[in-house]
Amino acid sequence: TDPVSLPGLLAMKRRSEKIASLTCYDATAAALQDQAGIEVILVGDSLGNVIQGQPTTLGVTLDHMVYHTACVQRAARRALILADLPFMSYCTPEQAAHSAARLVREGGAQAVKLEGGRERLDIVRFLTDQNVPVCGHLGLQPQSIHRLGRYAVQGRDAESAKRIMEDACLLSEAGASLLVLECIPWELAQAITATVDIPTIGIGAGRHCDGQVLVWQDMLGMSARNLRFSKNFLAGNEGIREAVSAYVREVKTGLFPGDEHSFGRDET
Ligand code: KIV
Ligand code: NA
Repeated sequence: TDPVSLPGLLAMKRRSEKIASLTCYDATAAALQDQAGIEVILVGDSLGNVIQGQPTTLGVTLDHMVYHTACVQRAARRALILADLPFMSYCTPEQAAHSAARLVREGGAQAVKLEGGRERLDIVRFLTDQNVPVCGHLGLQPQSIHRLGRYAVQGRDAESAKRIMEDACLLSEAGASLLVLECIPWELAQAITATVDIPTIGIGAGRHCDGQVLVWQDMLGMSARNLRFSKNFLAGNEGIREAVSAYVREVKTGLFPGDEHSFGRDET
């Protein structure tokens, strides 16, 4: 099969074919995910949590991201490689371009992800103009943890939901190619997915997103954290290969995420 491309992902959205994505930080897992049919491999700065054992993603550096992206990239044949721009690596368009260039050149990333909405539009435009595809990230933004105070569902009240919807539209207009939605009510994710032309990839954002992403260690039940929106795919499957195939199958058929993995606007 042909390698996954951003136009290919857009075509999947248009024909309502779900996009399966997982985070990945090493070559062994990358080969396995690639062979199981994962379309987007995300080298997430969640590696600060699950690889480095830190309480937040803030300690992750550009060097860390480049190293893990290169490890993943060597083993992936078909999947698109998306790499996170880490905390403080995209404060200006120029710095963002320098950081993205390293992820692309040294890491082999095909697109970069950054957190934030209206305050990042100049950066999204600049990177897109330099031919670096950008994935936005709205809802819960772990790089904002010290401003937020805690990791919590975002966009539950009408005002913040409106703001997230506006940010999604602005990112799309600024040239973003993809949009990650993290921990928002499924109703809001559904509305955003229907409104923007670019594919949405949800985590804790319900079944109506164009695609789903989970953290590798969470979906294998390896991490200590017990997250409502995640699921242990190793349980009930023969091994890791089968677990990843089951994840791809459940995303494609709309079986995952279920209501039990989603947050509703009005529930507490
Ligand atoms: O770093 C990460 O794993 C992410 C996903 C949760 C989307 O950004
Ligand atoms: Na991230």
